[in-house]
Amino acid sequence: MNKILEPTIASLSQVAKELARGGIAVLPTETVYGLAASIEHPSAIEAIFRAKGRPNDNPLIVHIHSIEQLGKLAVDIPTAVKQLAHAFWPGPLSIVLKKSDQVSAAITAGGDTVAIRMPDHPVPLAVMAQENLCLAMPSANLFMGISPTSAGMVGAEIVSASYAVIDGGPCSVGIESTVLDLSGEVPTILRLGVISAEEISAVLGESVKVAATIERVTEEVGMEVAGSEAGGTEAGGTEVLRSPGQYKRHYAPRTKAILVNKISQNGYGLSCLRSVESPLSAGRQIFVGDTPREYAKNLYAALAELDALGIEVIEIEKPPTSEGWQAVWDRLTKATTPYR
Ligand code: TXA
Ligand code: MG
Repeated sequence: MNKILEPTIASLSQVAKELARGGIAVLPTETVYGLAASIEHPSAIEAIFRAKGRPNDNPLIVHIHSIEQLGKLAVDIPTAVKQLAHAFWPGPLSIVLKKSDQVSAAITAGGDTVAIRMPDHPVPLAVMAQENLCLAMPSANLFMGISPTSAGMVGAEIVSASYAVIDGGPCSVGIESTVLDLSGEVPTILRLGVISAEEISAVLGESVKVAATIERVTEEVGMEVAGSEAGGTEAGGTEVLRSPGQYKRHYAPRTKAILVNKISQNGYGLSCLRSVESPLSAGRQIFVGDTPREYAKNLYAALAELDALGIEVIEIEKPPTSEGWQAVWDRLTKATTPYR
């Protein structure tokens, strides 16, 4: 049976019922495709970790369709959440809060916090609304791999473990949500995304901290994270891993990927110059985008395309280091970090 289904009233209803029964399924979101399970089913949560080959010390993001569900999932909710939800939800912002006892330790990797987001995509919103579900939903890739941004990019292992894959077309954002921790004293970004520190800061009316490994990334390429304090280094960069997105290598192709000033002649690589797609040169040079939003949207598909060619090296032309490119730089730095 073909498991890749068009989003119809019938297919969404079927998938919602399957999730409510404890199955797992792949759903599109505006950021990347996710592998979904109802938080009510421990065996489904387990199935997600198994299908991804993900170590169980990495917590999952819980997705909601209505703001009322927040009260069920979190306790001691700061008022700032209301302002952030108003400004950014539905959308690519995950907020880490103190968890309620409704959220199992399997989801939070044993921790006492839970990351929550309301996705800006009609498919997961409709699926959750139908059965009033909260869905734990990591990106639908194998651990450390490239997140899928279209149904066709979802790997065979994940498809075979899933009940179905709903094809929502290409993701409009293309990189994973910003993860903001509000469970501590100071709002801290644990993973960069298209919603920037500056935008969050403007809504909160206070500066936000950016976690240590992200700081290292931004230092390496000599850029500032706007709106942030120069904090996050209390533990000298050896801070406990608070977020899997903080692994130095992550979101990586299997092929070795390197950052270059210019793709070599007849080489294979990614560029932010439109003119790169010249039919005269051999190899494959993909124009990814000349704005951060466009680049983010196309990045993973371009990496996956080159990764499938069986070439030796993917050359990634350094994008601008100007404002707005931080999240792209974060993913590129992670994709080009060699294995240990
Ligand atoms: O855009 C997204 O967030 C996508 C789509 C499917 O919604 N999901 C996603 O999930 O990227 P995943 O599991 O691949 O990444 C989850 C991120 C990790 O970086 C993890 O650090 C962070 O969320 N996270 C989850 N729960 C957390 C918690 N309690 N404390 C700190 N970080 C948490
Ligand atoms: Mg992921």
